[in-house]
Amino acid sequence: MQPKLSVSMGRLQLKNPVMVASGTFGYAEELKDLLDLKELGGIITKTITLKPRQGNPPPRTCETPAGMLNSIGLENPGIEKFIKEKLPFISKIGVPIIISIASEDDPEEFVKLSRRLDKINAVSAIELNISCPNIKSSKLKAKSPKLIAQDPKATYNLVQAVRKVTKKTLITKLSPNVTDITEIAIAAEKAGSNAVSLINTITGMSIDINTRRAKIATLTGGLSGPAIRPIALGMIWEVYQKIKIPIIGMGGIMDASSALEFFIAGATAISVGTANFVNPKISQEIIEGVKRYLQENKMVSIYKLVGSLQCLR
Ligand SMILES: Cc1cc2nc3c(=O)[nH]c(=O)nc-3n(C[C@H](O)[C@H](O)[C@H](O)COP(=O)(O)O)c2cc1C
Repeated sequence: MQPKLSVSMGRLQLKNPVMVASGTFGYAEELKDLLDLKELGGIITKTITLKPRQGNPPPRTCETPAGMLNSIGLENPGIEKFIKEKLPFISKIGVPIIISIASEDDPEEFVKLSRRLDKINAVSAIELNISCPNIKSSKLKAKSPKLIAQDPKATYNLVQAVRKVTKKTLITKLSPNVTDITEIAIAAEKAGSNAVSLINTITGMSIDINTRRAKIATLTGGLSGPAIRPIALGMIWEVYQKIKIPIIGMGGIMDASSALEFFIAGATAISVGTANFVNPKISQEIIEGVKRYLQENKMVSIYKLVGSLQCLR
């Protein structure tokens, strides 16, 4: 028996539910010699903004127990250069391309970016990165909270505004740096998001005791990797109880076994992030491992696994 691995969210159809997470896979061309890109369920690109960004000063990453901190600060070439120089390669791979976008200063930038991407056939979906902990936006900073993803109303308004300018599948990427992530997920769903992805990185710090300096230049950064997996799973399970749209799960997926935990908690698809730095082929291995698990457990479709957590003791 060949279990069915395909999943859909909005108009987006994935032949399997394993994608690569934004910011950990560049614009795919960088990885082309290291794995078979067309085996992936989908590719979520590094976040792009309207204008080019140099990102934050170095050092921008450091290793931590069971994870890493990063503060890249959304370094990217800006949308026009992305379309001219990066999109031609990714659009020929033959897998769905999800473009991650963010604003620098003004949430209206999300609308402008989405309007531009809406006209491009090669773009399969748009991921709204309203949860990057590493950019300092002057307009948003003046207000409290700092991130759109920390405020249900701001999330609702933003998703609704973007929804008006595109029919493409919209995925809203949520932040774990909140008191109740379910409120934000509900706001995204109500405003017309076709899926939510969670989690982005968790704000953290690491210190060199000899210099008494933080190990990354911006002092705090975003924690990712296996250290955050239990937090991600807990949040996915909570969100799964509250919304009907699909969840793309991420946060510390390192192998097929950890990927399976995410489906069981309620994710319809997953994204592999930090693990790409350890083993760029890991997503392919995860696809095989998930398929084997479904066969061994006589499950005809990945949907049988989604949210299958056994809650009775
Ligand atoms: C070096 C690095 C860069 C990242 N850049 C982005 C980004 O540009 N946009 C985004 O939405 N998430 C970004 N992320 C967050 C990941 O997409 C993912 O949500 C997070 O790392 C948790 O998954 P993981 O533990 O599997 O890495 C980045 C993560 C890392 C480690």
